[in-house]
Amino acid sequence: MGGSSSQRSAVSGQQGMSNLTPKTATPIADGAAEMNRRSALVCVVGAKGMLGQELMRAASRGGNQRSAVSGRQEGGRGSAEYRVVGLDIEEIDITKPASVDAVMDELRPRLVFNAAAYTDVDGCESNQATAMAVNAEGPANLARACHRLGARLVHVSTDYVFDGRKDSPYLPDDPVDPQSVYGRSKAEGERVIREILTDYAIVRTSWLFAAGGKNFLKTILKLAGERDELRVVTDQVGRPTYAADLAQALVEIGEHPAAGTQPPAVGSQRAMGARTCHFCNAGACSWFEFAAEIVRLSGKRCRVLPTTTAGFPRPAKRPAYSVLSTDSLEQEFGIRPRDWRAALAECLAKL
Ligand SMILES: NC(=O)c1ccc[n+]([C@@H]2O[C@H](COP(=O)([O-])OP(=O)(O)OC[C@H]3O[C@@H](n4cnc5c(N)ncnc54)[C@H](OP(=O)(O)O)[C@@H]3O)[C@@H](O)[C@H]2O)c1
Repeated sequence: MGGSSSQRSAVSGQQGMSNLTPKTATPIADGAAEMNRRSALVCVVGAKGMLGQELMRAASRGGNQRSAVSGRQEGGRGSAEYRVVGLDIEEIDITKPASVDAVMDELRPRLVFNAAAYTDVDGCESNQATAMAVNAEGPANLARACHRLGARLVHVSTDYVFDGRKDSPYLPDDPVDPQSVYGRSKAEGERVIREILTDYAIVRTSWLFAAGGKNFLKTILKLAGERDELRVVTDQVGRPTYAADLAQALVEIGEHPAAGTQPPAVGSQRAMGARTCHFCNAGACSWFEFAAEIVRLSGKRCRVLPTTTAGFPRPAKRPAYSVLSTDSLEQEFGIRPRDWRAALAECLAKL
């Protein structure tokens, strides 16, 4: 999407990570060796995206970095013994069943993280077919492959599946009512996964920022360096989320016993769990407050001024209120997200 992937080099060079593309994958063996190899393989699809890059790092570390997310000291399973394979559009086109099947049949992973998506929210309005292909048919193709191989799928979705009219945090079971093409395509992606799989986690998140990739934090830093003042909307409220924290949570969810830690036998239909949950950093704010904190922490001299959505028209409608409740995540997985301001400060220190 966006033509940028062809200009990026293959994901590589991170500690503990193996960048195995379909062309370089070792042939699949039979019997016990195959089971061992398969049980030790985790795929990150969309590995070059903002979240995908963080997922590659987090999955390579395993679940033993829980404190980075929740501030708790106890370790996770520390199961960095598996091999992590990063795939992006050069290796796998999730809109094409043949591409997905060829790669998945060769790698036979036990766990697949899907961070691939068409994330240009305004672009989706004028490219509906692409949005549906990547955000709905793509997850369906991955889900069918996971079902056939008995692999678990951890899929990332969005607050934009909700209408934004609530005035208390959205719960995972609240009815979806997307207001944009992007939101509809992501809601459809969720629906097809639930239809196909019994062993999955759909993790909704919101307002991602990271040191890598295109995001609000990077945009504000750039504009604040160029201008004396910026106008940012006050009437959209949500939960900013550090992609590195989300990535760590996704790994913990993927590894969690409730979500299944043992690979099923090849061809087994044994279900290990079906979950829809939310992960965001703690604390809600408006985009205006988010921008003001970015400028304050970065020490830039730009003034951040309030405006409203009406004064800043965009092609896609955004939810006015998209605060996601993370209570079920805390209860089921013991993951307690830290405050977004602390996560932002850590992220800024990496820039
Ligand atoms: N960003 C946010 O604020 C936000 C908020 C809530 C939820 N989310 C969700 O979080 C997830 C990750 O978002 P992100 O911001 O990290 O996305 P991103 O930076 O746009 O990364 C998505 C990756 O998927 C790749 N991709 C696109 N089409 C593909 C295809 N057909 N087959 C294989 N790969 C393909 C993209 O390649 P190209 O770059 O070449 O297109 C890109 O590398 C998504 O599910 C998104 O919906 C994001």
